[in-house]
Amino acid sequence: MPAYAVIGGQWGDEGKGKIIDYLAGNVAAVIRYGGGANAGHTVVNDKGKFQLHMVPSGICWPGACGIIGNGVVVDADILMGELAELTSRGIDTSRLYVSERAHLIMPYHALLDRLEEEARGDAAIGTTGRGVGPAYLDKTGRMGIRVGDLLDIEGTLAPQLEQTLAFKNQVITKIYGGEALSLTEIMAQCTAWADQLRPYIRPTEQIIQDLLADDKAILLEGAQGTLLDIDHGSYPYVTSSSPSVGGACVGLGLNPQAIAGVLGVFKAYSTRVGEGPMPTEMLDQIGDDLREKAQEYGVTTGRPRRVGWFDAIAGKYSRLVNGFTGMVVTRLDILDGFPSVKVCVGYRVDGKDLDRFPANTSLLAQCQPVYEELPGWDQPTASATSLSQLPQNALDYVRRIEELVGCKVQIISTGPSRDETIEVERVIP
Ligand code: IMP
Repeated sequence: MPAYAVIGGQWGDEGKGKIIDYLAGNVAAVIRYGGGANAGHTVVNDKGKFQLHMVPSGICWPGACGIIGNGVVVDADILMGELAELTSRGIDTSRLYVSERAHLIMPYHALLDRLEEEARGDAAIGTTGRGVGPAYLDKTGRMGIRVGDLLDIEGTLAPQLEQTLAFKNQVITKIYGGEALSLTEIMAQCTAWADQLRPYIRPTEQIIQDLLADDKAILLEGAQGTLLDIDHGSYPYVTSSSPSVGGACVGLGLNPQAIAGVLGVFKAYSTRVGEGPMPTEMLDQIGDDLREKAQEYGVTTGRPRRVGWFDAIAGKYSRLVNGFTGMVVTRLDILDGFPSVKVCVGYRVDGKDLDRFPANTSLLAQCQPVYEELPGWDQPTASATSLSQLPQNALDYVRRIEELVGCKVQIISTGPSRDETIEVERVIP
């Protein structure tokens, strides 16, 4: 059995955690391949409500192991905190594995994330402040500390940390006027991490290859969304990893031919946290009402999310970048009761039509959405579990999105719980 990827089709927060939890009953592993504790995945099931930043969302299923792949940047304190909480709530965490090749988010990364954002002033990206960007910078700059280095503190970690910290302290003090961090304190922290994380550290690519060779199905859990992808997103207002499907191959050491399904998760409308253009953003009362109704506040930072109508131009772009084989529409119930709903079917810039998602961020910022308005629906879609329970107008709306994005809808989510789901078409056979 192969791998199935669950990828954010928009700017993150599409509800991937719930979809992963829904699908994970049928798989042997749920695997994170990128991002760090900037992700906030909410899972609601019979065991309660869980907000996970590091641990893969399938952890609540006893049959699935959780894997944090090499492409993830690991916040060890947050990971250990989540493991402790899950254990205290009766979830078995012994089947969690962390790649020895994954990089660690170090104390100077979070500090630099904050200092860099302050220095950007009006051009701030609005990062989550979790040190994710600076950790990826060090990874590509070949001065990162890897999870596996915790297993060889004297031989590998200590000399690398000494060299890296000397450089970082120069940047912190001389460029940003901050206070230097102590090598002794960070070494002590690493030793504590090593003691606690040792049982979880593994060559995860081997585990993944063995599962596939054993004909087991695995789920690849995307974090963030395609429009935040370092290459394919609205650069520079992006995260520092590759949430799109290519990131899964690199971030796990996974053969692309193993991926049988690529599921694009889309909210029935749009949201974005942080700065950067968002053509369909609603800055009016309808937007405020939608935010309140949907409680669109970030899981990681608590920031209010910007809200907008569904952007089918961005959706189609996302489909093309990822090769989505199926689509998931989440939070359809939030649109219940709106007199009409809009879908962006094109952009206009200076009176000219633009039918693609531009690479240039200033151009994206100038894009005026061209809307198609569809009738709303009064009867609820909330908690529906079959297509026949949906009001006709809601179904027409979903079908229109499907047509515009160019990808069949396989799942519709009608509420936060695992069972508030319509599986239109089986995703994992
Ligand atoms: P960073 O990933 O913390 O560096 O933040 C870069 C941008 O990505 C900011 O606009 C964040 O708000 C956004 N971002 C990062 N992670 C998430 C997420 O899980 N959901 C939504 N936005 C995110």
